[in-house]
Amino acid sequence: MRPRLKMFGARCVRLALRHCSSAPRAKHAAAAKLLRVQEALAVQNPNDNDIKVQGWVRSVRSQKEILFLHINDGSSLESLQVVADPRLELRELTFGSSVEVQGKLLRSPHKGQNVELAAESIRVVGPCDVLTFPLKYKTRHPLEYLRQFPHVRCRSNALSALLRIRSEATAAIHSFFQDNGYLHVHTPIITSNDCEGGSDVFQVEPENKVEEPGENPHFFNVPAFLTVSGQLHLEVMAGAFTKVFTFGPTFRAENSLGRRHLAEFYMVEAELAFVENLQDIMQVMEDLFKKVTDGLLSKCLHDVGLFHKHVAPGQEGKLEQILKNQFIIMSYTEAIEILKRAPHVFTYKPEWGHDLQREHEKYLVQHCGEIPVFVFNYPYDVKPFYMRDNEEGTHRTVAAVDLLVPGIGELCGGSLREDRQDLLQSRLQRTGQEDTYQWYLELRQFGTTPHGGFGMGFERYLQCVLGVENIKDVIPFPRFPRSCVL
Ligand code: 4AD
Ligand code: MG
Repeated sequence: MRPRLKMFGARCVRLALRHCSSAPRAKHAAAAKLLRVQEALAVQNPNDNDIKVQGWVRSVRSQKEILFLHINDGSSLESLQVVADPRLELRELTFGSSVEVQGKLLRSPHKGQNVELAAESIRVVGPCDVLTFPLKYKTRHPLEYLRQFPHVRCRSNALSALLRIRSEATAAIHSFFQDNGYLHVHTPIITSNDCEGGSDVFQVEPENKVEEPGENPHFFNVPAFLTVSGQLHLEVMAGAFTKVFTFGPTFRAENSLGRRHLAEFYMVEAELAFVENLQDIMQVMEDLFKKVTDGLLSKCLHDVGLFHKHVAPGQEGKLEQILKNQFIIMSYTEAIEILKRAPHVFTYKPEWGHDLQREHEKYLVQHCGEIPVFVFNYPYDVKPFYMRDNEEGTHRTVAAVDLLVPGIGELCGGSLREDRQDLLQSRLQRTGQEDTYQWYLELRQFGTTPHGGFGMGFERYLQCVLGVENIKDVIPFPRFPRSCVL
């Protein structure tokens, strides 16, 4: 190894020492170019460029002649190695503290890194109390441990990788739809409809209501809810723009602490006009999954790799299988037959007419060799009012399709929508919803088209790609029954 101290000439050390403090910003620091850690790491031919980085200390190692630091600013999984004269070490320069380091970017003599920063000044911006800081130096904390600290877990490798992946996947989903001619629509968060027809809605009213006698008790004059799906609003828009999508927060007051349920999750939804065939909807789901995942694997190689190496070993191979095979298609009736023949005792006996349970979905995916499977044509009575009746009059099945994926079960739910006014009207009449959905019925009178779409749970998608068991570990601030921290 080359003698490091040489790099820190006496004058330079004096200068550096003068600027090494948690006091006001050093004047000469302004001249150096501020780089993100990722940008500094990407410099191919460092030639003593004067740079400055800001970030959080991931490690401090003081040797007799050299002080080694690793600085991470969230821009990449890899941290930037800083080498410094040990006299630059400060009491407050600890794991977790925030720092600004200025110096020269050099080619690193160490394996596994191209560059390192020879510090001329180190400023501790914010000290960190390592005794009470929940993250511990050189420790790979389990995801369950990190879950207790939503305010700092983003500083761990796992959660920071996850958040970069989330960000990249969000961009990839938008690109997928924009590249394929879809218009992005902001559907409302507060709505007066309950699209899925369950009772799993959060009602919205102001905390302080001043009720005048005789006045409507509702803030919006009608009961209003946090959206459970943007689908009905997308149907409005598909009637003008043909292909539309939305991607936003969705709320379900399901009393479930399950590993794939949240009270607030993100849903990607698409709606297409002039579509008569469920297979066209399935094709969009499959293309979306494959295109976005391919992009993630190339753009977030290291971040995804962290999950595949440390969180879910074996997931990489499973994902490869998923990507190279065509997804399987089977009817609900076939699915029930497979489940009935299964050499397996289910908690819920599979019966035609009942919705599929997670254990059934899991078995079906296993039966298909861990390749995603589309199950279509579900019983009329287990699906919401808007789905298209397959057998006019008999109400036996609807043109619904769910995409089931390994490890998760249902990832996407979609359908063709009932575009025939008489059938829709009689269904709404039977359930006493005709008044609420007058506008929805009217759409069938004003230039209706056969149409359909689907929704994909974003967190479940991330679970599937990364192999993360618990949905609470793929969202920064999970909300679930009896928990709304921060
Ligand atoms: O199957 P769902 O309920 O379908 C709809 O809401 C349709 N209106 C969508 C549409 O056609 N535009 O929900 C769609 C997906 C599910 O397949 C699942 O992946 C996810 O949303 N999902 C949840 N994810 C996390 N936590 C929950 N509580 C979820 N409920 C549904
Ligand atoms: Mg569903």
